[in-house]
Amino acid sequence: LTANNYPDLKRNPNFAQVTPEDVKFFQDLLGSASAVIDGVTADASDDLSPFNGDWMNKYRGQSRLLLKPATTEEVSKILKYCNDRKLAVVPQGGNTGLVGGSVPVFDEIILNLSRMNRIESFDERSGVLVADAGVILEVADQYLAERNHLFPLDLGAKGSCHIGGNIATNAGGLRLLRYGSLHGSVLGLEAVLPDGTVVDTLSTLRKNNTGYDLKQLFIGAEGTLGVITKAAVQCPARPKAVNVAYFGFESYEKMCEAFKEAKGRLSEILSAFELMDGRSQRLVGQATGNPLPIEGEYPFYGLVETHGSNGEHDMAKLEEFFEHIMGEGIVADGVLAQDETQFRALWAWREGITETLSHLGGTYKFDVSIPLSDLYRLVDDTLERMTRLGLVGDDDSFPVRTVVGYGHMGDANLHLNIAVRRYSKEVEEALEPWVYEWIKECRGSISAEHGLGLAKKQFIGYSQNDVVLGMMKQLKALYDPNGIMNPYKYI
Ligand code: FAD
Ligand code: MLT
Ligand code: ZN
Repeated sequence: LTANNYPDLKRNPNFAQVTPEDVKFFQDLLGSASAVIDGVTADASDDLSPFNGDWMNKYRGQSRLLLKPATTEEVSKILKYCNDRKLAVVPQGGNTGLVGGSVPVFDEIILNLSRMNRIESFDERSGVLVADAGVILEVADQYLAERNHLFPLDLGAKGSCHIGGNIATNAGGLRLLRYGSLHGSVLGLEAVLPDGTVVDTLSTLRKNNTGYDLKQLFIGAEGTLGVITKAAVQCPARPKAVNVAYFGFESYEKMCEAFKEAKGRLSEILSAFELMDGRSQRLVGQATGNPLPIEGEYPFYGLVETHGSNGEHDMAKLEEFFEHIMGEGIVADGVLAQDETQFRALWAWREGITETLSHLGGTYKFDVSIPLSDLYRLVDDTLERMTRLGLVGDDDSFPVRTVVGYGHMGDANLHLNIAVRRYSKEVEEALEPWVYEWIKECRGSISAEHGLGLAKKQFIGYSQNDVVLGMMKQLKALYDPNGIMNPYKYI
């Protein structure tokens, strides 16, 4: 437990270490016998193992204390105590984050929100949901489905991630193209500052121009300013008709043309336009043992989804779109899902990529925004660089297995993944900062939707200028003067 997993980082000596008196305080606060087991676990490193390690098995902290508060008041008392004692804290939701932000670096106390999982209210007229931060995204969406509504965010980790974690990372997901960012759909938040102050901006109003929109500070802050405890979210009506199609393309340029046509021809019903390159799809095929949805091999595949209110009308539009892009030679082949089973099967080719890659050894993940015209060139250039450096190959002597690209093309968001047999300095140094320099040159963003966490800590300067960074640091110093909230991460 004393080993330092991060030799380049030093534990901040200003932070106190957890003492038996601290543990007693938390045990008294969080209560009953079952809360002691579930609520406070001290000195039991085995129990804490899943909370100390991240989803990718890449980051691991050494926390000895896990707190699971059940109310905002408990969060407030915990933070006030930690702030007074200078005990560092890492907020944790479903622990599905992909940048090492949700786990401790050293011995920070893990404040896990999973017991704050109550849906408070839903107004069918306005579509506004008010819920605790620890509600699992899929649970919120199922609750809404029973009321003919939809959570405005969907992503592959929906079965585990929390809406608080989604908001803290400003997650984008599969349908941002249609339902927009959480900066728009979160109407209000309740959050607790490090000194224990409860910030109530839990408005359920769509329009509210009364000074600074302070809730926005917490959206995407990755737990560095405070703990989100509740959210009011604007939820759209659940579409009555949902269709999905899967296409093969001969080139990236053809796929860009198809996107342009989809926006024009499917317009108001277009809900997702996703890109998967041929290598990513062959990997999913190998992992599942399933044949690809269409015959023949293509360098690019696309998944197009529509959400609308009239099945016949939407299918007619989708068929017309399909005929047009086939007729013009934009698409090489494609298939439309005919029922729910096929719908799920086609989405699995897109959503299954992340999990497939996670079983291959390791992945260097770059979640970036790049103007569409240049988007896929980054994958080609990365593969070319890895090949030139002699790092990629079919047998075990090469650290890199392959380089794949996929992502939310409709949002110009690429996921560049370098699948490795093992993590190594050699590969890391070949990629960083080279990838970030590449992105800076075309004025892209080094983090489109996953955040910065620990993974991109040193590289924020590639996407933000000194003035903006200075303002971020001022805000951090103002609201978290002792720096206890999620330390060692990007700020
Ligand atoms: P965690 O991982 O627990 O935490 C993430 C960050 O938020 C940490 O910095 C943590 O300290 C902070 N945090 C968590 N809860 C709170 C809180 N209540 N208050 C303050 N800070 C908090 N992301 C996308 O954007 N789009 C995708 O399509 C997508 N797909 C994914 C698919 C898979 C299979 C996986 C594993 C991840 C995917 N992600 C995606 C990553 C994404 O960031 C997370 O899945 C999700 O948004 C994080 O929620 P969580 O509850 O797991 O948060
Ligand atoms: C996705 O779009 O699949 C997610 O953001 C996860 C990933 O980048 O692998
Ligand atoms: Zn994504």
